[in-house]
Amino acid sequence: MNIEKGFKFIDLFCGIGGFHQAMADLGGECVYASDIDADCRKTYEHNYGIKPDGDITKVEAADIPEHDVLCGGFPCQAFSKAGKRLGFADETKGTLFFDICRILKHHQPKYALLENVRNLASHDHGNTWKVIHDNLDELGYNVIDEPVIFSPHYIGVPQHRERVFIMCVRKDIGKLPPFYFNINKIPKCSIDDILLDDNEIPDLDKFQLRDDQIEWIDNWNEFIQNIKCDKLPGFPIWADCLCPIEESPFFETLDQQPKWLQNFVIKNNELWSKNKEFLAEWLPKAKKNKNFFGSKAKLEWQVGDVENPNIWEHIMQIRPSGLRVKPGTYFPALVAITQTSIVGKRKRFLTPRECARLQSFPDTFQYDVKRTQAYKQFGNSINVGLVSFFARYMFGDKELQEKYSKNVQFPLGDDGQPRLEFPEWDED
Ligand SMILES: C[S@@+](CC[C@H](N)C(=O)[O-])C[C@H]1O[C@@H](n2cnc3c(N)ncnc32)[C@H](O)[C@@H]1O
Repeated sequence: MNIEKGFKFIDLFCGIGGFHQAMADLGGECVYASDIDADCRKTYEHNYGIKPDGDITKVEAADIPEHDVLCGGFPCQAFSKAGKRLGFADETKGTLFFDICRILKHHQPKYALLENVRNLASHDHGNTWKVIHDNLDELGYNVIDEPVIFSPHYIGVPQHRERVFIMCVRKDIGKLPPFYFNINKIPKCSIDDILLDDNEIPDLDKFQLRDDQIEWIDNWNEFIQNIKCDKLPGFPIWADCLCPIEESPFFETLDQQPKWLQNFVIKNNELWSKNKEFLAEWLPKAKKNKNFFGSKAKLEWQVGDVENPNIWEHIMQIRPSGLRVKPGTYFPALVAITQTSIVGKRKRFLTPRECARLQSFPDTFQYDVKRTQAYKQFGNSINVGLVSFFARYMFGDKELQEKYSKNVQFPLGDDGQPRLEFPEWDED
């Protein structure tokens, strides 16, 4: 690699240290960290012995030590779909990218590795990406033209978490080969790789579903196993719409509702028509369970049309839109709000240690003792394995660059452009 052991890095928006963990594992030394969140700072200091600074907007670039690598998973609210999507117009959040630029301009480190939510790639019709790309280019960095979108499950970690990674190499150091990944050749991964045995969890009862919750899910399981339909429903099941259309809560105002909602109400009604007998028995029983109200009287079956469906083989999340069931192959992205996944086959929630593993932190990492804080911090964090992966690519790791670079994977055609042949992905 083109970087010496002992290289110095800074960790902006450091959170609990996803970047730190990976860079230190690659032989780097952290010379500065910053995060505005006091709880994150405590976790960081506890694990890495460095007390991060607070608000980066208040820090002069000249007060930050010299470094070779700048790391920054800058806040995503301004870009993410969940946020207001104001991008650079959002003065408080969107401009934090410009704090990165300010520090890059002053110190001109050899490399910078940045990360953001997937939506950054398409935000404002690609304009946000262009502003980021062009700013970094003007500051003297080579950056791949297209945003690189990548997820831990592409390297065998069972979490689906697509994020944009921005590798920047100072122009005098060299060029980055274009990055290529064949999305059709995702390696196999299994949730068993990160699950603890139940007997390894000292406070197991805190994570286990209560009997009434098990009964509530059992009822939904009975539903999905017994309804008659051409294929298992991909639309949300709303229990209060499993009835004659005139009894649905939307009946009076249906034609004023948005098209998608009208569509769901009609589909639920059609499902009811085909399953009147079963539902006449099932609904009163399901309603007896104290959990069966509001969003918990809704089901989002996102497993597809499988034979012999069984909810308990899958992963669930209790979301404002309903009980969401996803295939049991890998977890949906950890999020910073309380939607901790339920591991169907264990009839319990994910533990913070398992969340740490989903972000590829080592088992020696000590998370916040307050469980909600720990979940939030891992939900905000970056996958350590992916930092390591992109850092190595950016530092010129030949093996990785050859495996993932278009220049090597695609022979050049007569026009000098890569010929679009899909390289074989070795499964090991
Ligand atoms: C997406 S998280 C990054 C998490 C980090 N990469 C990790 O591995 O845990 C963004 C972080 O930026 C921090 N942040 C937001 N505004 C900030 C500011 N003005 N100065 C410093 N940190 C800030 C947040 O507290 C949050 O921890």
